[in-house]
Amino acid sequence: MAQADRTSDALQAASGAAQPASMKLCSVVYRSRAMVNLSDYELYELVQAAQSRNAAESITGLMLYDDGRFYQWLEGPVENVYRLMRSIRTDRRHTDIEILSDKPALQRQFGDWKMRLATRGTRSIHSFNNVVVPSTAALNDLRQHPERTPGLLAELSPAPIAKACEEPSNSPLKGPAGSILKDILVTAVLPELLSRHPTETRKNPWPIDQRARALADLLIGSDTSAAIELLRTLQDSEGAIRHLYESLIEPTARRLGDLWGADLCSELDVTLGLGQLHRAIRLLNEEIEQPTIPKGLFLPAVLIVPEPGEAHMLNSVLDSDALGSIGWDPLTEFPASDEALQDLIAGTWFDALDLSLSPAFRRENWLPRVTKTIALARHASRNPALVVVVGGRIFTEDASARTRVGADGVSPTALSTAHVIRDEINKKKAD
Ligand SMILES: Cc1cc2nc3c(=O)[nH]c(=O)nc-3n(C[C@H](O)[C@H](O)[C@H](O)COP(=O)(O)O)c2cc1C
Repeated sequence: MAQADRTSDALQAASGAAQPASMKLCSVVYRSRAMVNLSDYELYELVQAAQSRNAAESITGLMLYDDGRFYQWLEGPVENVYRLMRSIRTDRRHTDIEILSDKPALQRQFGDWKMRLATRGTRSIHSFNNVVVPSTAALNDLRQHPERTPGLLAELSPAPIAKACEEPSNSPLKGPAGSILKDILVTAVLPELLSRHPTETRKNPWPIDQRARALADLLIGSDTSAAIELLRTLQDSEGAIRHLYESLIEPTARRLGDLWGADLCSELDVTLGLGQLHRAIRLLNEEIEQPTIPKGLFLPAVLIVPEPGEAHMLNSVLDSDALGSIGWDPLTEFPASDEALQDLIAGTWFDALDLSLSPAFRRENWLPRVTKTIALARHASRNPALVVVVGGRIFTEDASARTRVGADGVSPTALSTAHVIRDEINKKKAD
């Protein structure tokens, strides 16, 4: 009989009731040998990736790594656990897989742990939120008596009282835990990145979504100096901070919005996080010399503003810097109302208005308001052919939003703003 069939029969017998196959739980415990000794960073990456798949597949458990050996407890719906085991068996990071226990389960041993890591504490890993620290005695016992693995791992599972006061395991790091991710980044990830040769870093970059996730967690957490440190390190390895706008800063802003959307942080957290990003960018940009532009070159006069009332000004700040970096001299303002914007635009000739909404939140319900702002701005402008370019999360995610608000163009990233403005001005000239 196939393993999965045996498992479901046993479970049904144990529960005494017929259950749908998808509800049947099992637990599998195995040990294996790592092909090479994993660095803190590699372990961090492995656990991060495991957690996101496990969350999607309702799998929970614990992975213990010690002395080049993995010991893992996996639990969840039978089919999902076996499917994952098939992936794990073919993973080249380890070998010599020995199944130590494989049985049906009536309930989970590890609650909502999407996959915590248990390891002898090197400093960085030791303080990482998802890490459990076993005693040296337990680790020695494990090495000498691998058959005791299931019992030893179960002893590391969450105690009922502790569990009640825990944060969800995939929540962003907050409060005292804010410094935890700082620790892993500062003591493990950053030195690792710094130690790599620049060309090697380019060949094997830290994947965009993972670094945006890490940066967003740092910004939501209490220790934002680590966020600046991370940005500075990436800047050192990848050049000017603006090279990171599209590949890190803008994805991080969206990630902050996603955390809020998933109820993992407050609106204030997002606003403060974006403010910290803004501060870090200003700081790092100050270290770069601005270019000098040959005289006589036509540079459009651009007014950059966030939509009046928009607390998230990051897009305006990025656009302003991106245009400044190529020698344009935009005026960046933060008008509090449509009237204040009208006064601004009526007072001076502008070729283009760059108007933005939040890079983090979609702000779908703000579109009528933006429509009104644009109509009033056009009406007040000295330039009857004023070009209006919009930016913000909603405009990059919904292609129809631009026409709905009556704008001429959308700038999907700060780095394309100049190009979009020039194109739109040329189109109007040609009309
Ligand atoms: C020791 C060890 C434990 C792992 N544990 C998990 C896990 O709990 N969840 C998970 O999704 N992947 C885990 N992985 C990674 C999987 O082997 C695999 O790379 C990943 O699930 C992607 O599977 P796929 O390539 O079949 O899509 C683990 C890898 C190793 C080496």
